[in-house]
Amino acid sequence: MNIVDIILKKKNGEALSKEEIEYVINGFVNGDIEDYQISALLMAICIKGMTDTETFYLTEAMINSGEILDLSSIDGVKVDKHSTGGVGDKTTLIVLPLVAACGVNVAKMSGRGLGNTGGTIDKLESIKGFNVNLSNDEFINQVKNIGISLCSSNKNLAIADKKIYAIRDVTATVDSIPLIASSIMSKKLASGCNKIVIDVKVGNGAFMKTMEEATKLSKLLISIGNYFNREVMCVLSNMNEPLGNAVGNSLEVLEAIDTLKGNGPDDLTKLSLALASYMVFLSKNITIDEAMKMVSDKLIDGSAYKKFEEMVNVQQGDLNSIEISNNKIEVLSKETGFITSIDTNRIGELSKFLGAGREKVSDTIDHTVGMIIHKKVGDIVNVDMPLVTIYYNKEVYEIEKEVLKCFEFNTFKKDKEPLIYKIIK
Ligand code: URA
Repeated sequence: MNIVDIILKKKNGEALSKEEIEYVINGFVNGDIEDYQISALLMAICIKGMTDTETFYLTEAMINSGEILDLSSIDGVKVDKHSTGGVGDKTTLIVLPLVAACGVNVAKMSGRGLGNTGGTIDKLESIKGFNVNLSNDEFINQVKNIGISLCSSNKNLAIADKKIYAIRDVTATVDSIPLIASSIMSKKLASGCNKIVIDVKVGNGAFMKTMEEATKLSKLLISIGNYFNREVMCVLSNMNEPLGNAVGNSLEVLEAIDTLKGNGPDDLTKLSLALASYMVFLSKNITIDEAMKMVSDKLIDGSAYKKFEEMVNVQQGDLNSIEISNNKIEVLSKETGFITSIDTNRIGELSKFLGAGREKVSDTIDHTVGMIIHKKVGDIVNVDMPLVTIYYNKEVYEIEKEVLKCFEFNTFKKDKEPLIYKIIK
């Protein structure tokens, strides 16, 4: 087999065989295939696509490129969640304790942020002392002991995905549905859960800009899950504005804590309850209405917050240690009217510029910076009303102007878009 022939085959729009896909993935991981060759192949895949069967083989080869976690020693169903990435998306911090409080085991490995969307591990590191680096045994034992474990992805899982993602990120080859689906599912399947709920973000702050693309991705994620005998459900949710009000690591953790205490923003609370309910529904033999009631009760009676505290204590975090920068800028509206749109991707970019995210994997982040978005789509605003509070540490020349450019106004109220567009399973 020869990599040049394989690139040519895909360039001509032909489907690759299982053996060819395994040859590429193994060759790239062991260094026989060069970065420029995999880059050419990835670009050909972006342009010509892949059949579902090719995507299953690609996912399988990526799973087999690393360690596969065996969670079978944990009794019962193990459920996981994933988000395709959004601005202000801190649902994992809320959803996992909600589900664990319902008596369902949650075992989740998360990543760090890259690009304009944040990562759960960066958020958790706003809590001083929180140990994100659990060994496999520690990860499993914690689920056995307290029903919940949340840590950094084991670097040996789906090794091919890590290497390929680094190339995709710098070769404009991220936005391919088969590449995104195989990337997500290789990590999820290698980390061992039986049931997975995926929050597929749709909108101007997400990879998937349209419902059509998001639906296609969701169906592929579910088919990959079925191919590997796992049950997958996709929740297509709105990313045409940041989720909740906080964007930036410490700010988001504080907002997640408020939400777990019942004082969170409406959209964040509703989406977290919905995701948790679908996870409980998949794991217990009950109806979705029963799952929703059970999850809501765990929020109201404080047991989900207690579960979060328990996890933080076991992972040695100090909840009194979360810091926010003292340097603030209040961005006041220059207009009167209803907000009709927010450039969510740009809000993500600006918070990355403040230091809340990273451009390159090696960048360090500032957990104390970010933004609070006070007004969202559909809200009415008068001149001089606070729109956004910026928390910063480094020089932020003209950031106010840039933040203001993210908001569009009109004299007419635009109907609020749904928070959850649809569920696919
Ligand atoms: N999230 C992933 O894990 N992989 C992608 O390719 C895109 C989003």
